[in-house]
Amino acid sequence: MPRHVAIIMDGNGRWAQKRGLPRSEGHKAGTDAAKAVVTRCRERGIGHLTLYTFSKENWGRPKEEISFLFDLLTRFVTREVGTLLERDIRLSVFGELSGLPLAPRQALSHVIKKTAACRSMRLNLALNYSGREEILRACRALAAKGLPPEEITAERFAAELYTAGQPDPDLVVRTSGELRLSNYLLWQSAYSEFSFPDVLWPDFTALELDKAIEDYRSRRRRFGLTDDQLTDE
Ligand code: IPE
Ligand code: IPE
Ligand code: MG
Repeated sequence: MPRHVAIIMDGNGRWAQKRGLPRSEGHKAGTDAAKAVVTRCRERGIGHLTLYTFSKENWGRPKEEISFLFDLLTRFVTREVGTLLERDIRLSVFGELSGLPLAPRQALSHVIKKTAACRSMRLNLALNYSGREEILRACRALAAKGLPPEEITAERFAAELYTAGQPDPDLVVRTSGELRLSNYLLWQSAYSEFSFPDVLWPDFTALELDKAIEDYRSRRRRFGLTDDQLTDE
């Protein structure tokens, strides 16, 4: 089983467009898909789930779409706090909370605090997130500590990333048929397996997740070794 699944929830706009609806309807439907996937991951015992919710680049979208997304997010986390506690799921944000509008910032801080002691699963929202920025931020943190160059190791570096203390994603899923990372978990996905299901995010169901996991389980992860070496183990 993958320990950590990371998802790029893409295709909300196209889902709405296909139905002649405003993009906002796609985002709304997307939250239902997100909820179903969190539920399924918890059921399947996946310890870490990271959802790409809003990238730094997404700030370039129309103002109305951005404020709709943050309203939706605020309502979603506020509504789901009981369920998270009940299912023992700890919420975290990968990204600068201080860069968010007041209402989502307060709602998220509240839920992060409330669920801090939950242990059965980590739910990470990559929000106001940029993989390159995350790497730069880690560099700055190490520089601020005045570490000599030879003490800058992969472990020390990883400890400054948002994912500190969590495993790298075993499986990265991107919906909507796009085949790119869009600045997602650049350091952490070095040896991830990828899955690109050809469905738009609002159509991504628990069954689609199961399919991606089954596919993952049939892969052979070599980490640079030969098949013989792996069989000998
Ligand atoms: C993903 O769906 C949600 C966010 C980026 C917030 P999109 O809004 O990117 O939908 P498409 O890709 O335009 O269809
Ligand atoms: C990536 O999707 C970001 C999120 C899913 C939040 P985008 O729709 O922003 O990515 P590009 O622009 O197609 O690469
Ligand atoms: Mg998109």
